[in-house]
Parts: sequence; structure tokens; C-alpha cells
Amino acid sequence: KIATILKNMKIIRSENEMISYCNDLKLKTSFVPTMGSLHDGHIRLLEEGKKYGNYLISSLFINPLQFNNQEDLANYPKNYNEDLKIFEKYGVDLVYYPNEKEILNSIKKINSGPQGKILEGKYRPGHFDGVLTIVNKFFEVIKPNYALFGIKDFQQLCLIYTKLSPLYGTSIIPVETARDPSGLALSSRNKLLDDDQRFIASKIYEGLKLLEKNIKEGPEINYISFLENFYKDYNSLEIEYIFLENISVFDENERLISKLFSNKNQVVMVAAKVGNIRLIDNLLIS
Ligand code: PAF
Repeated sequence: KIATILKNMKIIRSENEMISYCNDLKLKTSFVPTMGSLHDGHIRLLEEGKKYGNYLISSLFINPLQFNNQEDLANYPKNYNEDLKIFEKYGVDLVYYPNEKEILNSIKKINSGPQGKILEGKYRPGHFDGVLTIVNKFFEVIKPNYALFGIKDFQQLCLIYTKLSPLYGTSIIPVETARDPSGLALSSRNKLLDDDQRFIASKIYEGLKLLEKNIKEGPEINYISFLENFYKDYNSLEIEYIFLENISVFDENERLISKLFSNKNQVVMVAAKVGNIRLIDNLLIS
């Protein structure tokens, strides 16, 4: 039924069909993996993807391996029919919409190593192993020339760049975080927030922006205390962590992470809960 609606876009579910179709493609491919419930952040990735290759591939798969919390997985928003329409509208040529049993059956597990266990990885045990396992599978099947990832998921982007892209010769393209007018980083999870919660959630980035401004005025300030002090006025914003890290902690396999983020060498990472919804954001600084 879907195939008749979406005339200009191919949808493949079987892994073998996907492998042989991608093998036969003689075009430069860009790849945008997604877990669906698409928003403007994904659209930005698709638009960027168009600028690189000349054949745009996306995937639609809620990867159970990367959910360390079963409730989070059960609540993850699903919107497949809308998603397929958005893919078509933004010029996706091929969607890989795998069958869950087939793709997970005998999948090669990837260990994210020490860099996947620090920072965000410490709070979500197994999360980055699950992300790398599925993205490795996609790269193996598709062998894309380019793959695009949002900077919002900073550690994910660094791990894919250092651990997976050398295996497949895939160029990783980082894409700026898309935000709503209040500054809140776009995420599929935002759909689960009510208006009051959305207002509180927007304080995460307000704090980061204010920090950026204050660093310019007086670089000697203590970044973490500054943010703790800002966030403490919002009772319903439950800060899980605030980290300040040198982005070189992700340097591995002679992949200089600084190459990805031109002149930035530090990152402030924040995770917070609003109600039951867990949100992350970050700020890159020079
Ligand atoms: O960033 C995401 O949406 C997911 O982690 C990804 C890369 C699609 C893997 O499931």
C-alpha cells in the first residue's frame, strides 16, 4: 500500500535485497540513519545529505539495542506513515525499513570501548554499544560514501567517526543542532512534553547560551558552577550531569576529532530530566 503512495521513493525491508541494491548503485551515496518520528532536525540532516552525494538513503528503525531503559523504548514515539511521507518530500531516494527480527538476528556486536563508557555512556550503560552495533550493520549493508549525524548527540557522532568510519571509508558529516524558537534542541522525545515542560526544557540551552556569552566577557569563570547556579532556579529541571571535557578524549585510531569540529576543542555536555523525559544538549567551545 505504501509503495503505491510513494511513487518516487524506493522502500526496502529485506537485508539481502538492500545489500544487492546498494552494491549495484553506481552513484555517490549519502546516508541519514533515523529512528523515525521525524522533525526539523532530521530534515536538516536530509537537506545536508543532498548536498554531498547524488543518491540519498535513509533508514527507519527504532533500535532496541540502544535502549538501556525498557520504558523509554516502549514510550518512544512512532509515526511511520508520516515519516515515509517526509522522506519522500525531502528527496530521499531509498529508505531501508528493516524487519526487526531479520536485522537483529546474528548481528555482529560492536563494543564501544572506554570512550563509550564515559560521560553519557556512564549514565546509559550499553547505549553506545547498541548504537555502534546498528550503525555498523547499516554501514556494512549500505557502504555509504557520506553519513550525516547531528552534533546534539555529540558522543555518538565522535564514536561513529573514530570507530566505524575508518572501517568503511565513509566520510562523517557533523550537522548543527536544530532548535525550536525557544532554543530547545529538537528531539523526537520533545513530542512527549507538555507546554509547561517544554518551557522548562528550553532552560537547558538558555543556560548554555548564557555561559557562552559569559565566557566571551570573562573566560576565567567556572563553567560548571555557572550552569549549576543558573539551573537551580528551575525546580522541575532535574539535572543529571554537567560535564566539561576536552574533545580530544575521543581521539582514537589516529582520527583527530578536532578535524571534525574545526576550531572547537572543548565541549560542555548537559543531561536533564523534565518529568520522565530525559533530554541532552551541548555547547562546543574554543
Ligand atoms: O541518533 C539516532 O537517531 C540513533 O542513535 C541512530 C544513529 C539512528 C542509530 O539508531
